[in-house]
Amino acid sequence: MKTEIIKLNPDNIYTEKIDYAANVLKSGGLVAFPTETVYGLGADATNENAVKKIFTAKGRPSDNPLIVHISNKNDVERLVSRIPSSAFRLMDKFWPGPLTLIMEKSRIIPHVITAGLSTVAIRMPSHPVALALIERSGLPVAAPSANTSGKPSPTNAKHVIDDLYGKVDVIIDAGSCGVGLESTVLDITTEPPVILRPGGVTYEQLKEVLGSVDTDPALFSKDFMNATPKSPGMKYKHYSPKAEVIIIKGKSEKVAGRINKMAEELRLNGLKVGILATEQTKALYRDAEIISAGDREHLETIASNLFKALREFDKRGVDVILAESVENSGIGLAIMNRLNKAAGYNIIEV
Ligand code: TXA
Ligand code: MG
Repeated sequence: MKTEIIKLNPDNIYTEKIDYAANVLKSGGLVAFPTETVYGLGADATNENAVKKIFTAKGRPSDNPLIVHISNKNDVERLVSRIPSSAFRLMDKFWPGPLTLIMEKSRIIPHVITAGLSTVAIRMPSHPVALALIERSGLPVAAPSANTSGKPSPTNAKHVIDDLYGKVDVIIDAGSCGVGLESTVLDITTEPPVILRPGGVTYEQLKEVLGSVDTDPALFSKDFMNATPKSPGMKYKHYSPKAEVIIIKGKSEKVAGRINKMAEELRLNGLKVGILATEQTKALYRDAEIISAGDREHLETIASNLFKALREFDKRGVDVILAESVENSGIGLAIMNRLNKAAGYNIIEV
């Protein structure tokens, strides 16, 4: 398949280019586009054949449901059979933005989207290119992250090209995504609502609006992963670079000492070692591929860079990645969720 790459400046969007991509969606094609979280791979959510092409292009298991993206809060009404009262408060506060809401689906949502579930995931992204594309298409747009299934989500167009060139009709290149981790997935069919995937909107922010919010136990433990998680996507080993990932957790002075020691042993065994550090700690390491994910004082910088860093280690041909951990609060909860999954819960406490 021929893939067309369309460059766009998010501050100055050419309507003709957006209309071109919107027409590709309308005629059942696949368009990769930026959102504020990660790049998405879009198709007409009401067209079963178009949606099936997403699963093929990504190599995605068909039992993993997709998020439906809208450009206007009023669009929710026809996609769901009931809007819980908490939805209005959440949409008011966090839409457009990195929050996906799970509600009971209406009949216009085909089963391929929901993998047979009675619920549907809906989100209104805030990226101007995403909003313009959805609006000009006049469609609800189904879009998972635009990566090959199992790989870290793409946070710039180069990542999408690496994974999907030749497999999709259009890739819109509008630079890097800001948040860098996927949206928070919140099930509001239950009371209190449950976080199925931590993301751009934090637990603390949700609690402030809802008063009470639960988290899916599958988020915190490998053992729960074997039970059936409510969000089918969470059961797959995900966000994984080719390299093996090991997380080293504990007081920072101890962590650096242990990482240096492990790195040396691995090198002696002929392995190429990567170290995922931070601005505060990168100078503590030596003799390895060292990448700083960002600033510990500003965890959003680490969120923004994490997937890019994991992909970069692969490019450098690293065999093992030794990763520092961050605190489990705020956006740190989402960072650690993705890191834990990339590591297959391979964590060493020092
Ligand atoms: O930030 C994002 O959410 C990005 C951008 C492109 O919007 N999209 C994204 O989609 O991350 P995807 O398909 O990679 O992840 C969707 C997650 C999966 O874990 C899936 O299992 C879950 O949402 N999900 C979708 N529909 C669901 C449903 N009805 N019930 C429970 N979980 C659902
Ligand atoms: Mg994904």
